[in-house]
Amino acid sequence: MHILFLNGPNLNLLGQRQPEIYGRTTLADIELKLREMAAKAGVSVDFRQSNHEGELVTWVQEARGNASVIVVNAAAYTHTSVALRDAIAAAGVPTIEIHLSNIHAREEFRHRSMIAAVCRGQIAGFGEQSYYLGFQAALQLTSP
Ligand code: DQA
Repeated sequence: MHILFLNGPNLNLLGQRQPEIYGRTTLADIELKLREMAAKAGVSVDFRQSNHEGELVTWVQEARGNASVIVVNAAAYTHTSVALRDAIAAAGVPTIEIHLSNIHAREEFRHRSMIAAVCRGQIAGFGEQSYYLGFQAALQLTSP
């Protein structure tokens, strides 16, 4: 089983970026913890970040036939990207949407997710734990 984690724009700045909202943990810290969890669970993970919408779209396309589950924090593209939504719908790979913050409790423009309807579910508001819950959800999706 292979889980693909995708991270959208500005998540490379995690730890320094608005820590009151996103916390002080870096993306590298989260990746390390996920790799430990994956090793224990006997699954492989790929963990990527891009500030470019097209690169994220390409990675979703490439997941078809290669990844069992995608866990995606699309960051700001969550709220804008029809291209990412179409890619997720086309890939046919079960996808879990995650967010560090509770997007529904923030500015109105963050309440709408362009990708939610093509994802299996959404985890939002648990800080870095959203990633670990996303990992658990991915395991659940693929267990018989
Ligand atoms: C985010 C929420 C988005 O609204 C925002 O644009 C982000 C991060 C989150 O993880 O809480 O960059 O996806």
